[in-house]
Amino acid sequence: MAETTSATRGNWNSKMGFILAAAGSAVGLGNIWRFPTEVASNGGGAFLLIYLLCCFAIGFPVMVAELSIGRKTNRNPVGAFKALSSNKFYPLIGFWGVLCGVMILSFYTVVAGWTFSYVFEEILFFTGFTEWAALFADVSHGVKNAIFSVLFMGATVSIILGGVSDGIERATKFLMPVLIGILLIMIGYVAFQPGAEVGFAEYLKPDFSMISAPLVFSAMGQAFFSLSLGMGALITYGSYLSKKENIPEAAAYVTLADVGIAFLAGLLIMPAMYMAESFGVNIFNDSGELLASTDLIFQVLPALFHSLSTTAGLIFGTSFFLLLSMAALTSTISLLEVPTSYVIDEFNVQRKKAATLIGGGILIISLIISFDISLINSIDFIFSTVGLPLGGFLICYFLGYVWKVENVFKELEQGYQGLHTSLFKTIWPIFIKYIAPLAILYNLLEAIGFITYIQELF
Ligand code: PHE
Repeated sequence: MAETTSATRGNWNSKMGFILAAAGSAVGLGNIWRFPTEVASNGGGAFLLIYLLCCFAIGFPVMVAELSIGRKTNRNPVGAFKALSSNKFYPLIGFWGVLCGVMILSFYTVVAGWTFSYVFEEILFFTGFTEWAALFADVSHGVKNAIFSVLFMGATVSIILGGVSDGIERATKFLMPVLIGILLIMIGYVAFQPGAEVGFAEYLKPDFSMISAPLVFSAMGQAFFSLSLGMGALITYGSYLSKKENIPEAAAYVTLADVGIAFLAGLLIMPAMYMAESFGVNIFNDSGELLASTDLIFQVLPALFHSLSTTAGLIFGTSFFLLLSMAALTSTISLLEVPTSYVIDEFNVQRKKAATLIGGGILIISLIISFDISLINSIDFIFSTVGLPLGGFLICYFLGYVWKVENVFKELEQGYQGLHTSLFKTIWPIFIKYIAPLAILYNLLEAIGFITYIQELF
């Protein structure tokens, strides 16, 4: 098999560029739309705790695995498994990743479209053209919804056409710090609003009695989704990474940045929910549980912005949704890059053609979804909550038992001088061979009822 050199496939310009691009992939709607929704519907602090555990004990080790596989092989997820083993089964792991990427991108584009349309909705609201009650209904259904999905996919495809360093790297460099800045300012504001303490307590005080199998399962799915793991996005990004880079260090930065931003989003949204209640946003269902539906985030945050003065609301409201759209864009780029690089590498198709055709195909699914948004939850559940951990399990298995950790160390040591005396070298194999795959497997079996079935047998 001819080795494709990294020079012909594109490369990151700098270490910082890579970390920002990978963090850009990780940080997105997963942190600010999906995470708070999951926290709110899964009992607050207990979910947060299990989520953090999943990020560090499962997510981080898998991230190192994906980046190593990508950098070693210089290939897309399917090609990478082909290059590392002659067994025909293993490329299916990559193929599953490509499929998850396609399906996740299809609903992600719809939600990203809402986010982007809110930039304009906020302007219309503050200039008196849209009623508060009409905000979400206005963008989440029908033609307007479809138009913004098309716009968003168009933006994603055009950046992918620009290639790795110019397109992807440049966009992320400046956006992330600004997003963090706005989050911090908003947290500072919301902290002093009535009801904020209830939200903080809900979020930060874990109620251990809430921990249940479905909670753990959702938290694990959220960790994979948020860190962009399990579908080869980071195999693909790793394939553009220079041999000089220290993979575990880069993975640590990316994990911390992603977890940090999700944590901040929770600090903003949990208290903001209680504040939104005073605006007539219904945050509880009939049995008094927090109602965390998909559209909640598009009602809670506007309630917060609308409590400000017109000028401040306009500035914060529009810039927040603009930044969130940008954060979503750096994630959709990585989602589209997976199937695109697969088609480029494996079928020798040009980047332009590959990205346009695949983006167009996915857009058709998005358009179908945008007319029946209840599909979002089902697709999200199958391909994110179940699909990504399944992919992660297979990656752990492949790396621990087929490619083997010794070979990973050979790949890692090129950019990591102190590897052989490091704590990482002792601990990481335990996580990748035993802890992460067993935890994932247990949760998957539990979710399909297998564990309960076995328990009942005895
Ligand atoms: N991590 C992204 C987010 O949080 C979503 C994503 C999932 C991107 C899987 C790539 C792969 O928004």
